[in-house]
Amino acid sequence: PAADRAPAVVIGSGYGAAVAALRLGQAGVRTVVLEMGRLWDTPGPDGKIFCRTIEPDQRSMWFRNRTEAPLSTFLWLDVVNRRIDPYPGVLDRVAYGDMSVYVGRGVGGGSLVNGGMAVTPRRDYFSEVLPQVDAAGMYETYFPRARRMLGVNDVDQAWFESTEWYRFSRVSRKHAHRAGLGTVFVPNVYDFDYMRREAAGEVPKSALAGEVLYGNNHGKRSLDKTYLADALATGKVTIETMSRVRAIRREAGGGYVLTVERSDDTGRVVETKEIGCGRLFLGAGSLGTTELLLRARETGALPDLHPEVGQGWGHNGNVMTARANHLWDTVGARQSTMPVLGIDDWNNPVHPVFAEIAPLPMGLEHWISLYLAITKNPERGAFVYDAATDSAKLNWTRSQNEPSVDAARSLFDRLNRANSTIYRYDLFGGNRVFADDFTYHPLGGCVLGRATDGYGRAKGCPGLYVVDGSLVPGSIGVNPFVTITALAERNMERIIQEDLAA
Ligand code: FDA
Repeated sequence: PAADRAPAVVIGSGYGAAVAALRLGQAGVRTVVLEMGRLWDTPGPDGKIFCRTIEPDQRSMWFRNRTEAPLSTFLWLDVVNRRIDPYPGVLDRVAYGDMSVYVGRGVGGGSLVNGGMAVTPRRDYFSEVLPQVDAAGMYETYFPRARRMLGVNDVDQAWFESTEWYRFSRVSRKHAHRAGLGTVFVPNVYDFDYMRREAAGEVPKSALAGEVLYGNNHGKRSLDKTYLADALATGKVTIETMSRVRAIRREAGGGYVLTVERSDDTGRVVETKEIGCGRLFLGAGSLGTTELLLRARETGALPDLHPEVGQGWGHNGNVMTARANHLWDTVGARQSTMPVLGIDDWNNPVHPVFAEIAPLPMGLEHWISLYLAITKNPERGAFVYDAATDSAKLNWTRSQNEPSVDAARSLFDRLNRANSTIYRYDLFGGNRVFADDFTYHPLGGCVLGRATDGYGRAKGCPGLYVVDGSLVPGSIGVNPFVTITALAERNMERIIQEDLAA
């Protein structure tokens, strides 16, 4: 048996993990959260916790010599990325050949780096993707609970219509409407009252100072300020940072033993220890959770894990693209980093698309309309365990993006035709118009009802639970964190009732 023991361990501290930690703590279960990244609460030499997006330093990315931003060039010039010192920075880009996946690292996971868009999926599409989940319960109880807990709010529409900070959104909306396309307002977890005070010059700027991607110093209700703060306040939950789980095995007499490596800021492993637990909750995200379980199954540590572990991965059909506007359609040098509008063409019978109107705050007028399109792509990838590197490799080929690129092209060709505009060729490298080589929305790998039962209990391993985005089968049609949170609320409620009561 391991020297350290806790009744429950949660791996990771993103959305699923944070829900698990809070609900376990409230149920009176002593819980240890293990997070491989830092706790982001201490200002650096410049007085700020996070670095600026346009002036990245070591805090920006996870052990890199150079930043790897999604937009690599501007006017074909290599001006976006910077040399940095290796450090446990907040954003990671995990490369699997043709597909790179952006993920957050630190206490709060993706909530530290993301754009805060808090979108509830369409009910009909939710039911199509997760038919075994009772939609009535989700839409009446768990989605509202998740939105309340996450602090979701809406931009004031009168302010939106008048402020220079959302001119870029209004210009894109006008162009969409000209093409006969509908737009919708999208809620966010960024505090819009705070943003208005930023605009009025009353408080330090964050969203209005170009901050996103490498963290927000103010305004954003990331998980460390919501679920995880509440979890710690139960007095039952502790969080261990810079602690990466490497291996999981069964403990004699039930329960699990984890091998955990603790590192310093140079990345050097300073301690390797074992922690035992009665119940284990995997919230390391689609990539992290799937890799841990795949490794456990393939090395023979947990041979009873289901063959579906590793299957059913998708990127939510993500494609990024940009249009060049006419000189009279200025998008503004000043742009809020928090998106609030989407083009909703999900009813399109051939090419459903939900495209977020994304900011590109560069502090100068650039006439660019940027979009992150979410498309309905039926292709799925699978992870395989590579013994030589002891890691999971994603099988995903470039050709699997074709349905996404076709859908995005259909929508944005229509927008360009209606407005006599063209695409931008200078932003993604290689004169490409569609950036289909990365995603912000990794989903699947341990799909609900296949690798697990209908509530995230891993098949073949009693007391082992999956709580994060790896449960969602590859697509959800909108930005995913509200769904991941609501699903975790639903599953944790059931697990605590049925499995922990005894
Ligand atoms: P999540 O990835 O949040 O957390 C996993 C945690 O586990 C991480 O902190 C990681 O460091 C840790 N971990 C991994 N392996 C580990 C190990 N072996 N040991 C210990 N810890 C480990 N979504 C949305 O709804 N609206 C939006 O606006 C955006 N925008 C956006 C922008 C950008 C730049 C990104 C990268 C992502 C988004 N997203 C988004 C996506 C959203 O952030 C994402 O879907 C969720 O964070 C996923 O939540 P999970 O709980 O699955 O894991």
